[in-house]
Amino acid sequence: NGLLTLVCIGLGSWLVLEPGQMDAFWIMVCVASLLGVMLVVPIGGADMPVVIAFLNSCSGLAAAATGFVLDNNVLIIAGSLVGASGLILTQIMCKAMNRSIFEVIFSETPAAAAGGRDDSDVYGDRVTSTSAEEVAMLLEVADRVVIVPGYGLAVAQAQHAVRDLMTSLEASGKEVMFGIHPVAGRMPGHMNVLLAEAEIGYEHLLDMDQINPTFSETDVTIVIGANDVVNPAARNDPSSPIAGMPILDVDESRTVVVIKRSLSPGFAGIANPLFAADNALMLFGDGKQAVIDIAAALVTV
Ligand code: TAP
Repeated sequence: NGLLTLVCIGLGSWLVLEPGQMDAFWIMVCVASLLGVMLVVPIGGADMPVVIAFLNSCSGLAAAATGFVLDNNVLIIAGSLVGASGLILTQIMCKAMNRSIFEVIFSETPAAAAGGRDDSDVYGDRVTSTSAEEVAMLLEVADRVVIVPGYGLAVAQAQHAVRDLMTSLEASGKEVMFGIHPVAGRMPGHMNVLLAEAEIGYEHLLDMDQINPTFSETDVTIVIGANDVVNPAARNDPSSPIAGMPILDVDESRTVVVIKRSLSPGFAGIANPLFAADNALMLFGDGKQAVIDIAAALVTV
């Protein structure tokens, strides 16, 4: 890739010195296309949204540069807007993932970096599993419930089941809110789109800064298919690959119910001490089925 970049710079310089040199232009088109493919091929699937935002931004900058050459103000302004907004989005996503754009493009994914770690010291025999009936009993006596969706909610397509659960909890006088992490899922706004599809009103969705101060007043937090975005290691363990990543402080709620199929790690490939916390209960199973089971058990409680 370095060699291809050098060739592009060389051909570009040649073109600037001899603008009529069309051979250099077409060779550069081919080499640049090859470089584009080579740069993107090794990037992990989940990093793709960041790369797409970055490439969008580059296309905007190219349009702005063309605007200067053609003396076209519309191209300069539109290109700058696309370039700047793409860069801002790239920066927001990288910050929320606790990675730099350089790491996204040139390094391995956090999961690969974490390798095959032994999670037994994190979990030991401290993980407590629960049942839908037990969760329904907890919800029955709760006043405030927060639901935290993650990638697993999208995989399970549980958004409509979650809406039904929310409706039945609200019908019995409980306050139900959703805590949305900026990089929950695999693309920007992933959770917002899913919940909007199920017609869950925006007034129920709180972003990280709004929801975090309220966890200590929350009776039950239900985490559905989220893992990295609720991992307290980001806050407490400076040696963790996700140290410093802003997270949802679900562990501050009175009780946390985590719905997922196993203790498998998420995108970052690391264990989550939340699952072994004293106030955490694991409801193992598919996200959609588990939510349906809880809603059914609520009716019979
Ligand atoms: P993850 O940390 O990836 O965890 C998702 C969890 O969902 C997994 O641990 C998995 O556990 C569970 N799951 C999968 N299928 C399920 C199902 N059918 N039912 C129930 N659970 C299921 O997700 P997250 O907390 O949303 O975090 C997102 C991660 O993606 C972050 O690390 C973020 O940096 C990264 N990322 C995000 C973006 C954007 S822009 N959103 C872009 C690139 C990367 P089981 O296998 O045990 O069920």
